[in-house]
Amino acid sequence: MPGMMVDSFGRVVTGLRIALTPRCNLNCIYCHHEGEAKPNGEISDEMVVSVARAAAALSVRSLKFTGGEPLLRHGLAGLIAQMPQELDISLTTNGIFLAEQARPLAEAGLDRVNVSLDSLRPEVYRAITGGGEGDLEKVLAGIDAAKAAGLAPIKLNVVVLKENEAEIDDMIDFCREKGLILQLIELLDLCHRGISGDIDAIERRLAGQAERVRMREMHRRKKYFLDGAEVEVVRPMDNTEFCANCTRLRVTSDGKIKPCLLRSDNLVEIGTCDCEKIMGLLQEANARREPYFGKDRLHEGRSTIIAPIIK
Ligand code: 5AD
Repeated sequence: MPGMMVDSFGRVVTGLRIALTPRCNLNCIYCHHEGEAKPNGEISDEMVVSVARAAAALSVRSLKFTGGEPLLRHGLAGLIAQMPQELDISLTTNGIFLAEQARPLAEAGLDRVNVSLDSLRPEVYRAITGGGEGDLEKVLAGIDAAKAAGLAPIKLNVVVLKENEAEIDDMIDFCREKGLILQLIELLDLCHRGISGDIDAIERRLAGQAERVRMREMHRRKKYFLDGAEVEVVRPMDNTEFCANCTRLRVTSDGKIKPCLLRSDNLVEIGTCDCEKIMGLLQEANARREPYFGKDRLHEGRSTIIAPIIK
């Protein structure tokens, strides 16, 4: 259908993620750098605006800014202000600079944020974020500022690691109190750095405790409801259902369209700010989409059905 991106597996692209910079003020022990190999410079504002318009014309509904750390991008509010009205605009941030930026970004048109916060214990947080600038208090102030600025929903991204496994109940309580959605994310250890986490054990426990379970269309992600708390579980590894229901394209911080987080051999260079040409390039990248964990790469046939789905 013209005006839409549908790949040969019948998957529709409804979301675009644009990395605005490879730079980050933290150095998280697990970071996959959005799957970017060696980023070379930063995509221009003009190109971001054209890509957003092209995506909107192709029926993309949501746009997420990532990085690196997107709040380090110069002139971010001005860029957000230029986004097409019909797109839902969000960003994924470590939250360190959110206290200052939440209001101006909300005023510029930012709709919502995901805040990466892997521990509620200051020392554990500092260690996971690389031992440098990781100041938990700043992130907590950032979350409060985001709420005050009316950004909604606010999601807390927690990559499940052995360092934070004991805190999951505290995080559920924290999110319930603050009205945040908790996203528990499976670790992708692409660089095989010996970090680990057992999200299966945690999901099994959630499944036992939840009063209700729902399935999201995107990635067939499961959402558990526990006494007023909402917990989403993101498990991509070896998960054919996750890939079969992928609705995303990405743009790297140096201006290439990336059909899959886990691959770097099928990128499409943008190299123009012409909206119509970019529509063609998005279609080209869409044609290169294929489920990463499909029949070929599935090692152990992992099942995703842990709890019965009650809609
Ligand atoms: N595994 C899983 N998620 C990751 N993220 C970054 N690196 C990884 C990884 N190795 C995700 C987290 C984080 C966001 C910035 O990117 O969700 O919150």
